[in-house]
Amino acid sequence: LFFFPLSKLDLSSRPQLFDFHGVGMIPIFTANWENVQNFQARPDDIVIATYPKAGTTWVSQILDLLYFGKTSPERLTSLPIYERVPFLEMTIPNLVSGKDQADKLPTTPRLIKTHFPVQFVPKSFWEQNCRMIYVARNAKDNMVSYYHFDLMNNAQPVAGDWNSYFQRFMEGDMVFGPWYDHVNGWWKKKQTHSNIHYMFYEDMIEDTGREIEKLCSFIGLSPSAEEKEMIKTGVQFDNMKKNKMTNYSTLPVMDFQVSPFMRKGKVGDWKNYFTVAQNEEFDEDYKRKMKDPTLHFRCEL
Ligand code: A3P
Repeated sequence: LFFFPLSKLDLSSRPQLFDFHGVGMIPIFTANWENVQNFQARPDDIVIATYPKAGTTWVSQILDLLYFGKTSPERLTSLPIYERVPFLEMTIPNLVSGKDQADKLPTTPRLIKTHFPVQFVPKSFWEQNCRMIYVARNAKDNMVSYYHFDLMNNAQPVAGDWNSYFQRFMEGDMVFGPWYDHVNGWWKKKQTHSNIHYMFYEDMIEDTGREIEKLCSFIGLSPSAEEKEMIKTGVQFDNMKKNKMTNYSTLPVMDFQVSPFMRKGKVGDWKNYFTVAQNEEFDEDYKRKMKDPTLHFRCEL
């Protein structure tokens, strides 16, 4: 049931979501399961983990600039973000898998992206005590962003209309499972594992410089004030939207006519999509699912 031979992966039509160890998945993220689970981490590997659409690309670009902006600036201008920061579980027929890409990364450290819920993370990363950076985004904006992504990305399941998407998100029938389990699972893990840095998209919007500062102390880097300023400017939404190496315009599977990858980059855009009734329904359901008072999200700034 869990095994999809790569030759059978069909990218000519939208994939169907299926249950994989209790988590909604599609074949491109499970086909390489054994190899991904057996990934050999190195102690200095850095894992960037997120629920889809929480700010993965943003934090990836920040980290790549922090580590390699000075030593190999040509990497940043010649390679798209998805080649500089491999997506571990991604496997597309006739393309190098994320796992092989990660194996072959020439950099030290290696920056490795995953959308896995915490229980799927290959055990070697824990054994090597790798640093992990988790980015979380409030559920409402995360949902709206994911909706547009599913509309425009032909490798994702059919999005359907907004009302049905809204229901499905609350039910957790999403690729990589329920948002609720994802953010809680990583939050809980952080309580016992000191090498997880848990960040919030809203904090980055509020004060990017401050969040870069915190990241630096977590990874043990101390860039100059000038360098930090350059990074802050480089990763502003408009600059990343213009930058072909960060805006995903080089990936044909995404249809930018439907919606660009760098869509809005705001906190509170959900207000343009949630009806008043949906907002009430959502808040009720949210209270039932999110019981941990120590994990707090901001839906507006
Ligand atoms: P929106 O769809 O709300 O605009 P991911 O990289 O995890 O797929 O997340 C994508 C979301 O992060 C998109 O959200 C995208 O616009 C936003 N994003 C990417 N880079 C950003 C930046 N530099 N500043 C603010 N938001 C950014």
